[in-house]
Amino acid sequence: MGKNLTYKILEDHLISGTLTPGEEIAIKVDQTLTQDSTGTMVYLQLEAMGIKEIKTELSVAYIDHNTLQTGFENADDHEFIKTVAEKYGVIFSKPGNGICHQLHLENFSVPGKTLIGSDSHTPTSGGMGVLAIGTGGLDVAAGMASGKYYLKAPKVVNIQLKGSLNPWVSAKDVILYVLKKLTVKGGVGKVIEYSGEGVKSLSLTDRATITNMGAELGATTSIFPSDEITRAFLKANGREESWKPLAADEDATYDEIIEIDLSNIPTLTAKPHSPDNVDAVDAVKGLKIDQVLIGSCTNSSYKDLMKAAAILKGKKVHPDVSLGISPGSSTILKMLADNGALSTFIAAGARILECSCGPCIGMGQSPKTDSVSLRTFNRNFCGRSGTKSADVYLVSPETAAISAVKGYFEDPVTLGEDIIIEEPTTYDISDNYFVRGKNIDATVVMGPNIKPFPTKEALTDGLEGKVVLKTGDNITTDDIMPSNAKLLPYRSNIPHLSKFCFHALDEKLWEKCELYGGGFIIGGDNYGQGSSREHAALVPLYLGIKAILAKSFARIHKANLINSGIIPLEFVDANDYASIGEMDELEIKDVKTALISKDIIEINNKTKNLTIKAKFVGSQRDIDILLLGGYLNYIKMNLGE
Ligand code: F3S
Repeated sequence: MGKNLTYKILEDHLISGTLTPGEEIAIKVDQTLTQDSTGTMVYLQLEAMGIKEIKTELSVAYIDHNTLQTGFENADDHEFIKTVAEKYGVIFSKPGNGICHQLHLENFSVPGKTLIGSDSHTPTSGGMGVLAIGTGGLDVAAGMASGKYYLKAPKVVNIQLKGSLNPWVSAKDVILYVLKKLTVKGGVGKVIEYSGEGVKSLSLTDRATITNMGAELGATTSIFPSDEITRAFLKANGREESWKPLAADEDATYDEIIEIDLSNIPTLTAKPHSPDNVDAVDAVKGLKIDQVLIGSCTNSSYKDLMKAAAILKGKKVHPDVSLGISPGSSTILKMLADNGALSTFIAAGARILECSCGPCIGMGQSPKTDSVSLRTFNRNFCGRSGTKSADVYLVSPETAAISAVKGYFEDPVTLGEDIIIEEPTTYDISDNYFVRGKNIDATVVMGPNIKPFPTKEALTDGLEGKVVLKTGDNITTDDIMPSNAKLLPYRSNIPHLSKFCFHALDEKLWEKCELYGGGFIIGGDNYGQGSSREHAALVPLYLGIKAILAKSFARIHKANLINSGIIPLEFVDANDYASIGEMDELEIKDVKTALISKDIIEINNKTKNLTIKAKFVGSQRDIDILLLGGYLNYIKMNLGE
C-alpha cells in the first residue's frame, strides 16, 4: 500500500511507538526554532536541564516578537538569548532581521526534515516539504536536549488541488477558502497534505502562506511536496544542495480526501473576529477602511510585497488610510530597496515598519477606536490588534493594496489584467544577519528582567490547601494569564506576571496564594481553552497551585498543566462542582498511590465535611511526568535514553 508524504517523513524519523493514528510516538527532531516571546523560557528550561550539548542538527533563536525597546526588559531578554545561544551553538537572529518563519524558509528549511518551533506558525516551513510542528516551549527545550519529540500519530487529510488561480486571486484566498470549508476546528489531530496538478501553479512562498495558516485550522501541520519549484527557491537562496524531491506515492492512502479546483476560488476575506468567518471580497466591497497593514509571517514574501508595490506604483494611499508595510526579512527589504519598490511604497505614502511581527502581536500600530483594519495577517481575534472596538479583516496583499488606495474595501479583480511577479533567481542573503558559533564557556548574561522559572519537587503522597479560586465554564488561557503589550516584556519574569494571574476574576489572587501557600482551583467545563500559552500553567505553578479540579479541560492547556506538574483532575460527577466553594479546605490523602494505580481519587472537603470523587485522565507517560513533578524533571531523568 502506498504511503503519503507525512507518514514517509514520520517513518524516517520514528524513534518509538507505532504509526497508527492516535498512538503516541516519539520522532527524531532535526531542527528547532524559537522566537523571543517564548524563547527566553525555552532557554531557561534548557539551562535547567544541565546538558552540555544540544542534539539537533540545527537550532535557531529568532528575535522578532518583542522588538520594541521602550525599557530594559526586552533588551535584557535579547541579550540573554544571544549569550545562551552562543553557549549551545544555536544560531542567533538579531532583532530587526526579520520574522522567524520567513527567515527560516529563506535560510534553513530543508525538505524531508523535521522542525519543531515554539511558535504556532512553525508549519510555514511545510511549504518546503518540512514536517514542521508548532509546540510548547518546554517541548522545544526537550527536543534540543534529547533530540526527541512526542506526539500522537496524526490522521492525514489530502487536499488535491487542480486547475489554477484566476487573475488577482492568490494563495491567501486559497487558505481562506480551506478555512471556510473546514473551520478553525477542522484540522485538529490532523496533518493537511497538499497534492495534485494545481500545486505546480503555486510558488514556494504561496505554498508557505497556505501551510502557515494551516495553524488556524488547528492542524498538527500542513505540508506540500518538494519539486522543481522548491529546488529553484533553494537555488535562489544558495542552498540547492539541500534539495531533494519528495512526494506521496501514487497509490498513497489518506484518512480523508478533499478536491479543490483553484479556478473556483474568488478573492476572499476573513471577517471579524475569526479566521474562518470567510466571505467574498465582493460581499464587503465599498466598506470604508481606516488602516491597512501588509506583512506578518503569512504574507511578507518578496512576491507578496512586489505585488503590492506594483498596485501602488504611481498612486497615493487614500488620505483617511494609514498603510504600514513590514517586510518578512532584511533580505527582502534590501531587495526592495535595490529594485526601487521601497521608493514606490514611500512615494505612495506608506509607513515602512521594521522587519518583525510588530502589529500582528499588538506591538505598535493599534488601530483607532471603532475602526476597520485590513491586514494580510493570519489572526483577527477581537482585541489582538490592541484595540477591542476595531474590526480586523484578513485579506491578500492584492486586496490590501488596492483598498489602501481607494479608502474602502475594493476587489483587486477590478484592476483588469493581472500583474505577474517573477520569482527572483537570486535572493540577496547576507550572513551579517545571523550570529553563529559556539563557545561552551560563554557567559550567559541574565539581566534583572530574567528571573528563574518555577520548578516542582517530585510528588509526595498527600495534597492539602484552600480553594483559592472557583471559575465558571470556558475559561481561556488569556483569562488565566493575560498577554498584552504591557505584559509581553515580562515573559521571562514569572514573579512579575504572577500579579496579573486571573486579574479579571480576582485581582488579589496572588496575595491570597502568598498568604495560604497556593492551593487548589475549581474550574467548570473546557478549562484552559484558547491559545497554547505555557505561562497559563507556569504562573499558577509559581503561585503554588497544586491541582485543578474541573468539569473538563481543553487539550493543550491540560498538557501544559501536566508538564508543569500541576495535576488536572476531573469531577467523576460534574454535579459535585456546586458543592465546593472558595476558601474551602481540601485534602487529597493518597494522590500518588491513586495516580499509580489509576484509581478514583477521593477529595476530602474538610470545610463541608464531604468527600468528592475525581479522576485523572491521561497516558502512562503523563502519570510518570506528574509523579516526578513535571516534564523538566522527567526529561532530566530520561536524558540519554
Ligand atoms: Fe509573528 Fe504574527 Fe507570525 S506574531 S510569527 S507575524 S503570527
